[in-house]
Amino acid sequence: MENNRNDHHEEEHQPNSRKEMSRRQFLTYTLGGATAYMAAGAILPMIRFAADPILHKKTDGDYVKVAEVSKITNEPQEFSFELKQQDGWYPSTANLIAWIRKDETGNIYALSPICKHLGCTVGWNNNSNFPDEYHCPCHGARYTNVGKNLAVSPKPLDTYKVKIENGWVYLGATEPNTEVK
Ligand code: FES
Repeated sequence: MENNRNDHHEEEHQPNSRKEMSRRQFLTYTLGGATAYMAAGAILPMIRFAADPILHKKTDGDYVKVAEVSKITNEPQEFSFELKQQDGWYPSTANLIAWIRKDETGNIYALSPICKHLGCTVGWNNNSNFPDEYHCPCHGARYTNVGKNLAVSPKPLDTYKVKIENGWVYLGATEPNTEVK
């Protein structure tokens, strides 16, 4: 008799206990989910803000206004220009040089002065022993007016991407020289 009463007593409590557990779990999940949602709402904008300069990295499509088209001759001329750069969070300005010329049909080309041997700076017509050539003072590399490597250097000079707009020459990134056959 006594046993039966105890059994009955336990049976009465079991469903209650199960109900209590599931309510507690429900609250835990709900509060946990809401907290995670609020935390994500606060943290994601911070991550995005921090990563913003990286996301807006300089692209190949950036051009700099360098010279008037009317000033460009068949003889290569040296032009200096500034390139604003963003390295992560740090803005800086690079001072660059381009040797710009046009061919017989009026097409405009711009050469990088960085020697493809070990990176010194070449000049046009700067060695009387080798007239009408680019010459590198470091180890004597020589290039033709289109940048073709004649001595020492294993490769031709790089070219800048060129864009002509409203009578001005704009230069973009450097790329391997395709003018040299
Ligand atoms: S760096 Fe120009 S010849 Fe060596």
